[in-house]
Amino acid sequence: MSELSVKHLLGIKYINEKDIQLIFETADHFKEIINRPIKKVPSLRDITIANLFFENSTRTRLSFELAEKRLSADVVNFSAASSSVKKGETLIDTANNILAMKVDMIVMRHPNPGAGVFLSKHIDASIVNAGDGAHEHPTQALLDSYSIRERLGDVAGKKVVIVGDILHSRVALSNIYALKLQGAEVMVCGPKTLIPKYIGELGVTIETDLKKALQWCDVANMLRVQNERMDISYFPSTREYSQQYGVTKQLLTSLNKEIVIMHPGPINRGVEITSEVADSKQAIILDQVENGVAIRMAVMYLLASKIK
Ligand code: CP
Repeated sequence: MSELSVKHLLGIKYINEKDIQLIFETADHFKEIINRPIKKVPSLRDITIANLFFENSTRTRLSFELAEKRLSADVVNFSAASSSVKKGETLIDTANNILAMKVDMIVMRHPNPGAGVFLSKHIDASIVNAGDGAHEHPTQALLDSYSIRERLGDVAGKKVVIVGDILHSRVALSNIYALKLQGAEVMVCGPKTLIPKYIGELGVTIETDLKKALQWCDVANMLRVQNERMDISYFPSTREYSQQYGVTKQLLTSLNKEIVIMHPGPINRGVEITSEVADSKQAIILDQVENGVAIRMAVMYLLASKIK
């Protein structure tokens, strides 16, 4: 029987191409199930999963919880805002107290890069990284690639540009790792101030002109400007940013081909993408959200099969 090469999903950096294909094949099966009238399977009936969210989330949190419930897992939810973390409890103590209640798997979002890796070295449970600061967001990258595969048939050989705030984005880094593992060509595009200096070492090309980037690509993944991670200004004004790096219908019409538009959410309508583009047939934003549930079901199902 095929199994993942890892006990935890801490980042795309720690998995391989075979793992990605296994997750996609398993997600195909779960996607078929969640489109049936009865969406639930008993696969994780004996497994308890804790969702630890130390940072805000809408899509990822709901998507994990739905995925867990559709697999019939027992689910407990933890939000840092209403917990004893506020009284000074450490991450390891919080996690160990939750594990003492016989939890098998932890899904964690945390503002600190490497929080999942750190926790995996100190506790005995399977960890799924649901986003750690500006480091990685592996299930987002998996659902993004899965959505490209669904729309275009394959990821290998496709040209994908990631546009916007690359510097503060965990989505960008996980997508670069995932796309490169599958044989896609990857470009990043944005203002120089929002492109980290090391990015070329990851085998991606850099473009600062959005129109040139869109003319090159098959898929454009538009990122949100992450103001919450900025302590200084990286561009003169939001208006100027959207004029240079916002995708409009007019810009798309000026290309002599149709490209696929993606966005991980939450969208800043009128900044990185206009409403007309976000709601157009070229955009697969809601397909990404739908696929997120199947991908997370696949990841947790495969990791649970490794729990002794
Ligand atoms: N895409 C994503 O991670 O969205 P949330 O922050 O709402 O979970």
